Amino acid sequence: MSEPCFRHLPVLLAEVVASAPANSQNLLDCTLGGAGHSQALLKKFSKATLYGIDRDPTALAASRHRLAEFPGVTAIEQASFLELPYWAERWNMSFDFILADLGMSSEQLAAPERGFSFLQEGPLDMRMDPFRQVETAAQILQQRSEFEIRRLLQTYGEERFAPQIARAIVKHRANAPLVTTTDLAELVERVVPRKFQKPNFHPATQTFQALRMEVNQEPEEIKALLDFTIENLRPGGRLAVISFHSLEDRPVKQRFREWERPCRCPSDLPLCVCGLQALGVSLQRKPIVAGAEEIEQNPRSRSARLRVFERNAVCFPGSDKESED
Ligand SMILES: C[S@@+](CC[C@H](N)C(=O)[O-])C[C@H]1O[C@@H](n2cnc3c(N)ncnc32)[C@H](O)[C@@H]1O
Repeated sequence: MSEPCFRHLPVLLAEVVASAPANSQNLLDCTLGGAGHSQALLKKFSKATLYGIDRDPTALAASRHRLAEFPGVTAIEQASFLELPYWAERWNMSFDFILADLGMSSEQLAAPERGFSFLQEGPLDMRMDPFRQVETAAQILQQRSEFEIRRLLQTYGEERFAPQIARAIVKHRANAPLVTTTDLAELVERVVPRKFQKPNFHPATQTFQALRMEVNQEPEEIKALLDFTIENLRPGGRLAVISFHSLEDRPVKQRFREWERPCRCPSDLPLCVCGLQALGVSLQRKPIVAGAEEIEQNPRSRSARLRVFERNAVCFPGSDKESED
């Protein structure tokens, strides 16, 4: 069988593998992609079982192929983070190591027909799961109000020229819908004043990011992922999350902090009365980032941030599946 071509180099590979607990037995990869991380994990933990999901059917096909030789691969399912509780119940499993490598893969970006890239002409789609997700980026641009588009660009793109871009989109669609990635990229390029355009940074970058986040409901998905993972780590288990921009990294950092310091008592109380205990510890103060060599080989790794959280070895009653067994 020939290898399906999946154009994606896993980032921070050695660092991810090193962050899994020694003797990990049950692994969960929530973002299989081309399964580069999963493959390296299975090479190191040859007796482990691996469960994996991805919402993109192309990624699943590539993962199944790449992981075919590993007997430990127990389940590969098409699912989004919101569906993880359903699958974990079916698998009846909690995990020593959970990995989430957020965002899109290079494969998704490189396929013009998926509509993620402003550099290649394609339909304005951006759905990671084109079969089960309904709304495309083109539909959002055609159907939302100017106010909603503006808010979306501000919130998910942190786009300074959101009002101007939203206005131009609404004006454009009064004559003709925005259909292709190039339609949108060129519109943004016209709207953002030249003197604010940075070298080596396409002015439509943040607009595309915002639309991708909205199409795929990424903030809700990340919240669901974090809710799920803390409940489904075994005592001493670890969660590793790789993010690529601040809107992904921020919720991860905040949740890790809450898990470490869940006490809700007013700071002037001499003793804790809320009784909320730390669920574990964040293993780094600062995220792990790629070194110069990796950035040279894989420029996408430049913005990668890896954070790892370790669940307490002893879990408190009611706070973990294992302690209920
Ligand atoms: C950066 S890639 C992962 C690459 C992978 N670690 C590898 O080694 O090839 C991110 C993957 O996560 C998937 N993904 C993103 N958001 C998701 C979600 N909410 N639920 C499930 N999969 C998601 C994407 O479809 C994509 O394939």
